[in-house]
Amino acid sequence: MRIEEKDYNTIWFDEKNQVVKIIDQTKLPHKFIIKDLKNIKDVINAIKKMEVRGAPLIGGAASYGIVLAIIEKKDFDFVKKSSEDLIHSRPTAINLKWAVDRMMKKLSNININEALKVALNEARKICEEDIKSCKNIGLNGLKIIEEIYKKKKETVNILTHCNAGWLATIDWGTATSPIYHAHKKGIPVHIWVDETRPRNQGANLTSYELNEEKIPNTIIADNTGGILMQRGDVDMCIVGTDRTLFTGDVCNKVGTYLKALAAHDNNVPFYVALPSSTIDWNIRDFKDIPIEERNAEELSHIEGIDQHGKIKKVMIYPEKSKAMNLAFDVTPAKYVTGLITEKGVCEASTDALQKMFK
Ligand code: MRU
Repeated sequence: MRIEEKDYNTIWFDEKNQVVKIIDQTKLPHKFIIKDLKNIKDVINAIKKMEVRGAPLIGGAASYGIVLAIIEKKDFDFVKKSSEDLIHSRPTAINLKWAVDRMMKKLSNININEALKVALNEARKICEEDIKSCKNIGLNGLKIIEEIYKKKKETVNILTHCNAGWLATIDWGTATSPIYHAHKKGIPVHIWVDETRPRNQGANLTSYELNEEKIPNTIIADNTGGILMQRGDVDMCIVGTDRTLFTGDVCNKVGTYLKALAAHDNNVPFYVALPSSTIDWNIRDFKDIPIEERNAEELSHIEGIDQHGKIKKVMIYPEKSKAMNLAFDVTPAKYVTGLITEKGVCEASTDALQKMFK
């Protein structure tokens, strides 16, 4: 997608300099910086500090992490250790483990001298497949938006939470892909963007990328969705997910669950968009999902730009207060109207997911 009229992906390999290039998302929306990741340590730091983030993108970044580990040391023990460190860099999004496992499977039973070529090829494939999946999610989700527009004949208002946009994937996004496709088809859409405290991915990333694509959007405080739904100002919700269980339960950015409850109470359709790499086929009970708890400083401090164009961080909480920063929650399948996947739209249930993917 575009930034200042120029097309980008979120990650790519620079063959000449043997580095991985990323858009540093911790600097957006105020500064657009392309950063070089030179070794496995850089990749792990980028994932932990959320310079790259969003389930599909951290999967893509991890696969290039394996490539950089091989460039660093032609030694399978080092690559194995790097793969474990990558998997532990963030716990909730399953795409990370999915991508690393796929890379390591490709590297099993081959000679170390062939490893770089094989790994680079596989990392590129993982990213290309993600682009294709996200594009198809868009085409499948577009049909739902078209249906609403046919009935309403006016701007379709869509609420989204966090950033499940192209910045969270390699291109297109998951939740945003149907929106981009609808916009390209000339369907008028307006997006309610949940700010998404504490890191403000909605305000800093979703609104930013929608602005760059010229899609009308309005940032709202996270607690505003409920009243907008009561007023009839939301036609549908579309969110992303970091891990969807085969039972249909959806783990996503904290606050998603509350939005789903409000949607259910107001008969607003609540859709979750995901590529199949986000499905967890093993965990049955959502209480077994590892929920990331991040540093409370993300709550107590806030970053912005001052009048001199300098990025500044300030403390906003009482000095003596404790804070807790759980990064994800789980929306039970019963509150999900449908899952928008690369293969089609299905019910959030074991039967439907198995029929579509197994
Ligand atoms: O903590 P983040 O910013 O990595 O969380 C991202 C989300 O919760 C997204 O909704 C999810 O990864 C889906 S991205 C297509």
